[in-house]
Amino acid sequence: MTKLTASELEHLSEAELQSLLIPDLLPRHIAVIMDGNGRWAAQRGLPRMAGHTEGIKSVRELITLCRDLGIKALTIYAFSQENWRRPASEINALMSLLEHYLQMEMEALIEQGARFRAIGRINTLPESALAWVRKVERATAHLDTLNLTVALSYGGRSEIVDAVRRLAEDVKDDVVKPDQIDEDLLEGYLSTHGLPDPDLLIRTSGETRISNFLLWQLAYTEMYFTPTLWPDFRRREALLALLDYQRRERRFGQTRDQLDPPDDQVDKRTA
Ligand code: IPE
Ligand code: IPE
Ligand code: MG
Repeated sequence: MTKLTASELEHLSEAELQSLLIPDLLPRHIAVIMDGNGRWAAQRGLPRMAGHTEGIKSVRELITLCRDLGIKALTIYAFSQENWRRPASEINALMSLLEHYLQMEMEALIEQGARFRAIGRINTLPESALAWVRKVERATAHLDTLNLTVALSYGGRSEIVDAVRRLAEDVKDDVVKPDQIDEDLLEGYLSTHGLPDPDLLIRTSGETRISNFLLWQLAYTEMYFTPTLWPDFRRREALLALLDYQRRERRFGQTRDQLDPPDDQVDKRTA
């Protein structure tokens, strides 16, 4: 594991930063709260939408990086349930941008082997955006290099409520007995079913809150908060987040002594 300080890392090129990564210690699943598009635009005297549009380039770079590094799952928060409270003009422009993104990126996603899936109350999206969501989901359903999950009209509490509602139906229909309900069973009703829990959550723009994202799944996730605004969060920033993650010691409730990592990891961590 690198012992370089943040200011020493500043001087390294992207290739050098990437070479410091330890493949065995990469996250299997990264979740991202892409925040700060509006502020990025405001700093430049531009309309908020300019920040959202620029943010798409960051999404693209992160997908490519995950692919390059063999990270199998990336879940990004694109629109929360609470975001419906924004002015109609911004909501409409965001929905058009979503549709435009899906049209523009479908081929690139297929080429990269990315399976696209949307989670959230998808049926509340405007019809034409929803049609593109379904189209790209179908077109990429056979791919498995990267699982790209996009949270749209998503709220963590609603996700749990929806899961419990379906579970209650199954209890009523005698498919499930109450004493069979455990964490694994409930997990099976969540929209992220089949994905490992995120190892790393990244939130940009300096806010240090979860904003109703993946409440169940983030139980033991490592958090990385950076002041960088989402449109500025490019490959280099993502590499710095991964290097920071690799310094963490994940204990899952155990003591340090109990962890006893395998010999090869001891060597890497002290290298
Ligand atoms: C994140 O950027 C994108 C969405 C929530 C859709 P914001 O639009 O929240 O940008 P800020 O937080 O106002 O800067
Ligand atoms: C969270 O960002 C939602 C997304 C990034 C899509 P917000 O900007 O909406 O979050 P709050 O309101 O600052 O918590
Ligand atoms: Mg915001």
